[in-house]
Amino acid sequence: MTDKGLPFVSEGSGYAKGARKKEGLGNYDDARKLYLKAAKSFLQASKLSESAKEIKLRRGLAETFYSKSTSLKSERGGKVKAKEGGGNEVAPIEKPKVKFSDVGGLFDAKEEIKKAIVYPFQHPELYEMYGKKSGEGILLYGPPGCGKTFIARATAGECDASFITLKVSDVLSKWLGESEKNVKEAFDSAAKYAPSILFFDEIDAIGAKRGWSQSDHGQRLVNELLAQMDGIEGSREKMLILAATNAPWAMDPALRRPGRFSKLILLPNPDHKARKEIFKLHIKNRPVEDLDFEELANLTSGYSSADIAQICSEAADIPLEDALQGKEPRKITMNDFEKVLEARKSSLTPWFRQALQEIKKSGEEDIFEPLVNQISKGVLRGDF
Ligand SMILES: Nc1ncnc2c1ncn2[C@@H]1O[C@H](COP(=O)(O)OP(=O)(O)OP(=O)(O)O)[C@@H](O)[C@H]1O
Ligand SMILES: [Mg+2]
Repeated sequence: MTDKGLPFVSEGSGYAKGARKKEGLGNYDDARKLYLKAAKSFLQASKLSESAKEIKLRRGLAETFYSKSTSLKSERGGKVKAKEGGGNEVAPIEKPKVKFSDVGGLFDAKEEIKKAIVYPFQHPELYEMYGKKSGEGILLYGPPGCGKTFIARATAGECDASFITLKVSDVLSKWLGESEKNVKEAFDSAAKYAPSILFFDEIDAIGAKRGWSQSDHGQRLVNELLAQMDGIEGSREKMLILAATNAPWAMDPALRRPGRFSKLILLPNPDHKARKEIFKLHIKNRPVEDLDFEELANLTSGYSSADIAQICSEAADIPLEDALQGKEPRKITMNDFEKVLEARKSSLTPWFRQALQEIKKSGEEDIFEPLVNQISKGVLRGDF
């Protein structure tokens, strides 16, 4: 008996492989499309299968790839609309479900965010009683892939607040000439859907050093942002502003003045304890056997959290692909992780080198002191 589903299985495996590659490169739009194609192929394969075991396996894979395509969307602050609707393509609104317990490590940053954002959100009356302002704009900064976007969403999840993302780089590239309008609309949505957190992702795209904010258009955008931030002074307990960047030294300094993004929180790359936690979080819903988390953390010194997430996904691919070839399904083992790790190096080294150079050049060592300290500790440990 020939298995008519087999060509769709190999087609689907090809798509899934391509999707993982794109995901690894950070190209989430293409990754989403390919995961969706993989899901369709496996669904088709399951329809053409004749054994109950094959049908179950292929359906399961179709579901996995489908949920991968949709979760990539929301993890990245993509175009997911909140249930009540609202937002637009440039500044979508969502109600994130992720919480701080989903975020590994970042112990100090979580504490700081709790004090600056979560408690004022939960107890506005106490802050008012003691005449404390509930916070100004907060800038999250740190190496790529270490949780800036992730923790911003989790902050909204902790506060049960609406979350509005404005990805500044998108606004600038796609909506030239309309960016001030988009900034205004994002603030209007945040007010309308309060309690809310308005999140400016990749805010360094409005970079003074690249000449952007000196250009007419760039300057208008900075002015609009500052005017809007000044305008929400009275309603801060209902609406907070967060921003993220991995190049804070490239930002227009006007944005860091008191009352604006004057509070900086460093999100460092994960240390040993944090790496153990992040591995545990990312294998939570996967079948594993005898993993040595101590050893996994030892092997990933200097890796980003996103590297670890990707390593877990690639380790899962090994038994998955074996099963697709007809082998007995088995659990993910330490051996699978070791294979993946052999081929993967830390992605952060170049970033740290450049960061140190840029900070020295800007003469702002005092502002970025936590990062400078972290880099010198890392160099001593041989992390980068
Ligand atoms: N602290 C963490 N705990 C668990 N998973 C994490 C953590 N940080 C990051 N991740 C994983 O890595 C992915 C990428 O992280 P995120 O998008 O937050 O990085 P980022 O700091 O915003 O990077 P970039 O500077 O490239 O925008 C997340 O979607 C999540 O799966
Ligand atoms: Mg990000």
